[in-house]
Order: sequence, then structure tokens, then C-alpha cells
Amino acid sequence: MTAAAGGAVAVANGGTAASQHDVRLAARTERMRPSAIREILKLTDRGDVLSLAGGLPAAELFPVDAVAEATQRALAANGVRALQYGPSAGLPELRAWVAERHALEDPDRVVVTSGSQQGLDLVGKILLDPGDRVALSAPAYMGALRAFDPYQPTYAPVAMDDEGLDPDALDAVLAEGASFLYAVPDFDNPSGRRAGLARREAILEVCAKHDVLVVEDAPYRELRFDDVEHPPLAALAPDRVVHLGSLSKTLAPGMRVAWMIVPDGLEEITEQAKQATDLHTGTFAQAVAYELVRDGALEARFPHLRTHYRDQRDRLTAALARHVGGRLTYEVPPGGMFLWGRFGDGVDANALLREAIDRGVAFVPGDAFYPGDGPPETVRLSFSLLDEAGFDEAARRLAAALDAYGA
Ligand SMILES: Cc1ncc(COP(=O)(O)O)c(C=O)c1O
Repeated sequence: MTAAAGGAVAVANGGTAASQHDVRLAARTERMRPSAIREILKLTDRGDVLSLAGGLPAAELFPVDAVAEATQRALAANGVRALQYGPSAGLPELRAWVAERHALEDPDRVVVTSGSQQGLDLVGKILLDPGDRVALSAPAYMGALRAFDPYQPTYAPVAMDDEGLDPDALDAVLAEGASFLYAVPDFDNPSGRRAGLARREAILEVCAKHDVLVVEDAPYRELRFDDVEHPPLAALAPDRVVHLGSLSKTLAPGMRVAWMIVPDGLEEITEQAKQATDLHTGTFAQAVAYELVRDGALEARFPHLRTHYRDQRDRLTAALARHVGGRLTYEVPPGGMFLWGRFGDGVDANALLREAIDRGVAFVPGDAFYPGDGPPETVRLSFSLLDEAGFDEAARRLAAALDAYGA
């Protein structure tokens, strides 16, 4: 079937030529489009392409044996409950675990979601009418744009510096109104930046001045490479911040277990939106996840995760220094999984990507992370997927692509 949003389309019925009927798609589908990253990943399915593109967590960190044991425990503890429908806001013990980690007095503010991607969708569902403005960093996590798109907002990009959102730029944007600010203060995707404490306070002050809610997305928060830890925005301003946390980067994304912490007053509507969407996140996944995180088991994983991703970052930057040199400039990220860079003036990363794929290396052109046109010379490189030899070869191929491109 072919389809066009807002218009009538012919749908072949079971492939028989004669019977066709018209399907009119909702106007909101006009804004739906495939993720640029998934399109690039299709190209990299070719076995010979080394990928600096995808954002998948390092598979060697998945605790496969521990998941098997946790599954046994979850079923032994109460197998029927783990297989039955459950409460829309999530299993009480998992919500209590989240509440304790965030020092919340009230676990009712926690709603378990199917990935934080669902949290983004629920935020759009309960907060956005068509035409509403969403303030967000430029660049911003592409999946957030795709989650909000169907609710038909307009985007108000806010300039960043090396600590993330620039408070003056934010002030100017919010002066014109916004439904909410979407922010990733810890090791942003794609920029890798982290906001310091003073910056967090400044952002919240500007939001308070204009009475704007903040949606804080924090999936990379635990992947820090130093001892510096700043409070989440939600801890600094619980009444103003919807916080999204996830087990995807610290445990395994296939579990699809994440959570929202909402300000007082939003609990019920969030739960209702969640219920209408999927009744609840799978009780089985929640029960297993709880067994994997309880009694400090999640925190026990952090030292290893941090060392692993820090070493990976260093392997990538060393390979870039060896082969690409000054033709790519970047900030060294203090955490997360991504390095944000710039090729020289005049380089179009989309055109360069074609040369790169031909030579067997892939990356994500930075303009994919902007709601409108972004700077063409920017790029996101992931350091989660390759090993030392892979990074070396990927950087060598990238240099060859730059040679061919004439940069
Ligand atoms: C900033 C950001 N938010 C949300 C998500 C979605 O995470 P989850 O697997 O919890 O849905 C990602 C995934 O890459 C991300 O980078």
C-alpha cells in the first residue's frame, strides 16, 4: 500500500487487482518519518561497514547470566503475578526502588514506562496541542523530536555552549512562550555535554522566570567518566521537572524498563495516558528488572560500565588523533556514548558519508539532530560498538573518505 497523509490512498486488498479501497491517513502522520540513524544503520548492515553511527550500548556489558538467574527468582517469588496484567503505573516494588534512589517521599510520582522513549511520547500526549512550542537544545536527541512530532508542536531551538543550554539564549526563547523545555543535562545525545551545578541552577531559574516546565531526559546519567556528580534537575526543582530515567544504558535496552518521575499533580493524568497507551509495561520485564537492580545490584555495575565506556572513548580519540588529526575537531565528552565533532568549513557531512560508506565506515551527520537545517559540517560518532582495532581501522577509513572528498 502507498499512503499520503491527509489524502486518500489506494490500498490493494490482499494483492487482488480488482478490490481496492481508500484510506485517509490522519494529518499527524504528515510529520512522521523514519529516524535518519535507522536509515544509516540499514546501509551498515553490510558486514564490511564499521559503524561509528549506531547508539546501541556495548553488548558485551549485558549481564546475560544474571538475567537468567533473575528470571528464575522472579518466577519463583511469584510467577503468576509476573505473568498477569499489572498496575498501569508499574509494579509497586520497582516504583519504590525508583523513589528510594531519588529520595522521593511519594512513590506515586513514579510511573514505570516502556523505555524512556515512551516517557517522551507520554509527555507529548499530556502536554502538547498542535502548534505549541517545545524549547530544546540545538542539536537535540532525534528520538525526542520523532516522539513529539505526531503532537504537531513547533520547535524553538536553543543555542548551546560546552556546558549545554546557554541560559541567555534560553531566556530569549522562553520569553516567547513554550509548553516545556526538553533537556539532557548529563552527557547529552548527541553533544556529550554535561551541565555543571551553576548551569543547572541557571537553566531552572530561567524556566521559573517564564513559568515553563522542564522535561529532563537522563538515560546516560550513570555513565560518567570522572568523580563529578551533579544533582538531577528534578532534585533541584521537583515541582517544575518531569524526569525520565532508564535501565537501557545501564542494564540492557531490550528489557524496555524505564520510569518517569512527575511533579505533584501530574501523577493521575500520566497514569491515565500510560494506561490508554499500553495498559502497563510488561509485568514480566518489570519483575525481572527489579530482581536485577534490588539491594544495590544496579549500582554495583557502575564502576565497570564507567571504565569500559571511558576506555572506549579514549580508544576512539586515540585512533582519530592517529589518522584524522585536525581535520575533525571535537570536545572530549566527560561521559555517555557519543563524541560530537566538526569537520572543517565547507565539508558537508552527508556528502562525506557517501564516500565513507564506500570505504566501509559510517557515522551520523550532525544535521540529523536539528529540527530544521543544522550545521552541515557536524557529526556524531559513537564509541560503544567497536574494539581498539575496529576504531583504528574506522579512523583510517574516515581519513581516506576525507581525502577522497578533498577535505
Ligand atoms: C537522550 C535519549 N533519550 C531517550 C532514549 C531512549 O531510551 P530508552 O531505551 O529508555 O527508550 C535514548 C536512546 O538512545 C536517548 O539517547
